[in-house]
Amino acid sequence: MRKVGIIGGGNVGATCAYQLASRGVADVAVFDIAEGVPAGKALDMTQVGPVLGFDARVTGSHDPAVIAGSEVVVVTAGFPRKPGMDRMDLLKKNVEIARASGQHIKRYAPDAIVIVVTNPLDVMTWVVQQTTGFAPERVVGMAGLLDSARFATFIAMELKCSPLDVRAMVLGGHGDTMVPLPRFSTVNGVPLPELLPPEAIQRLSDRARNGGAEIVKLLGTGSAYYAPGASACAMVEAVLGDTNRLLACSTWLSGQYGLKDIYLGVPIHLGSKGVTRVVELKLDAAELTALKASAASVAKGIAEVKLLA
Ligand SMILES: NC(=O)c1ccc[n+]([C@@H]2O[C@H](COP(=O)([O-])OP(=O)(O)OC[C@H]3O[C@@H](n4cnc5c(N)ncnc54)[C@H](O)[C@@H]3O)[C@@H](O)[C@H]2O)c1
Repeated sequence: MRKVGIIGGGNVGATCAYQLASRGVADVAVFDIAEGVPAGKALDMTQVGPVLGFDARVTGSHDPAVIAGSEVVVVTAGFPRKPGMDRMDLLKKNVEIARASGQHIKRYAPDAIVIVVTNPLDVMTWVVQQTTGFAPERVVGMAGLLDSARFATFIAMELKCSPLDVRAMVLGGHGDTMVPLPRFSTVNGVPLPELLPPEAIQRLSDRARNGGAEIVKLLGTGSAYYAPGASACAMVEAVLGDTNRLLACSTWLSGQYGLKDIYLGVPIHLGSKGVTRVVELKLDAAELTALKASAASVAKGIAEVKLLA
């Protein structure tokens, strides 16, 4: 069985570990600073094996060496957004954690492809890439997949159709400035503007943009983890299976979309080497303006981290 490391065994990390193990994707090793908790969760998950029928091994430890030899490492260590808290508020706290995570990956899994989940996502992906020193195509952020899944869910709910038929595309930074793309979102190949009036599309786009906050508000404490865990799991599957899926992921840009030296959500092909191609869509003027505004907000976050250094 192949091995996936997860740094941070909280809600998202544990959910991702469970989804990977129960789908038989890989053995999973979870590292968390909390003593006992990762080992306890891992044992609990392993005991599902005889019940539901899987034989992936899950191990958990507060020793980072547990991730040694992982082909893919998912970084979920950090603090979730609390109600009323902006993603950028998390910056200072999570930079330290992202740097520590990067050091562990460099030491114990130097050949891994890295998938970052910790918020603020695009900035933290950059921090992990900088700390590991890995080629940027080996370090990619999970956000677009989740934001697209949220948009797709709301489209399916509005049309009262199966979510299986909906493919949605959301680009940009993982935050209020994300850019849902109705023209590139379809229901079994039929573009969204053929199916819904502009006002409805706007309403669903706004709901997707606030998708994380809506759940934070309902939960009262903590933030979403089932769909985030699943989105990271899907990215791991694309890497281990070398499937080259086309997915929106936070990716290092070097001139694409007229943007450079920044991590931002764009469509890419994801395979065993990480990002194998950045897909440049022909965006219209409004879409491109929105993407650039989103990039500006991520660039501000990166500049803030540089000041912290
Ligand atoms: N990218 C996305 O779309 C997305 C979606 C959901 C959540 N998130 C983010 O993912 C992160 C995790 O969310 P969660 O709900 O699992 O939070 P959580 O609080 O449940 O879990 C975080 C875990 O990280 C651990 N941790 C803290 N510092 C650590 C360190 N230095 N090394 C190892 N582990 C450490 C904590 O002990 C805790 O178990 C947050 O930053 C959250 O905002 C991102």
